[in-house]
Amino acid sequence: MSDFLKCKFPVNYVKGYHPNLLSWKELADLINIRPLMTEKRVKLLDPMNRKFMWHTHGWMQDKNSHPPSLIKDLLDEMVIYFIDMSRATKKLNDFASSIEDEYKRHTDAHIYVCRNPEIEHPFAAHFDISHNIIVQCEGKTNFKVWKEVEDHTVEKQIRLDIKEEPILDVIMEPGDAIWIPMYYPHHAISLTPRLSVSFPFADNENAAHEESFEDRNWITL
Ligand SMILES: [Fe+2]
Repeated sequence: MSDFLKCKFPVNYVKGYHPNLLSWKELADLINIRPLMTEKRVKLLDPMNRKFMWHTHGWMQDKNSHPPSLIKDLLDEMVIYFIDMSRATKKLNDFASSIEDEYKRHTDAHIYVCRNPEIEHPFAAHFDISHNIIVQCEGKTNFKVWKEVEDHTVEKQIRLDIKEEPILDVIMEPGDAIWIPMYYPHHAISLTPRLSVSFPFADNENAAHEESFEDRNWITL
């Protein structure tokens, strides 16, 4: 890990860090903006890896955008996450902006949704190759975090079998936040229908030139 982030980014958990970051209603409003729901932004963690199709009409500029009703139905049977969402609301944009200011890295907002707690997270215990700050927005999730793995091979990134005790084992409630450095395995188990937002950022600062940061101004007209 970069020396700069090593001291700035320990595993951490703070209760009530950001209340009201995103609600079910705000998420539904986003899903209802169909042109936003492209195949690139909507990530379906379908255990059966199905391909979904839909009818389109001539006015559509992006025929690869998911019908809102399809997303609603699929949310009952799989975990779905939405990427490229850091400007989707002013609150998400402001939070992303605060991360970029503090860590001097580009970030994104990934919205994770599990509406059915019976569904197991397909990654199970896994590590990521980016640092992550995760804010619980709705529902309850049990989060376990283990100390850094020695083997950083990305092919061995998911469904880890860890015998040790976790260094953090918490029940995240709305507003709670958790800081997970890269290569630290973690496992999220939804205890109720849940909505959370992850803000990932890379360890490497090479690409994070001043000019290439997202426009974090929020305009009013
Ligand atoms: Fe993760």
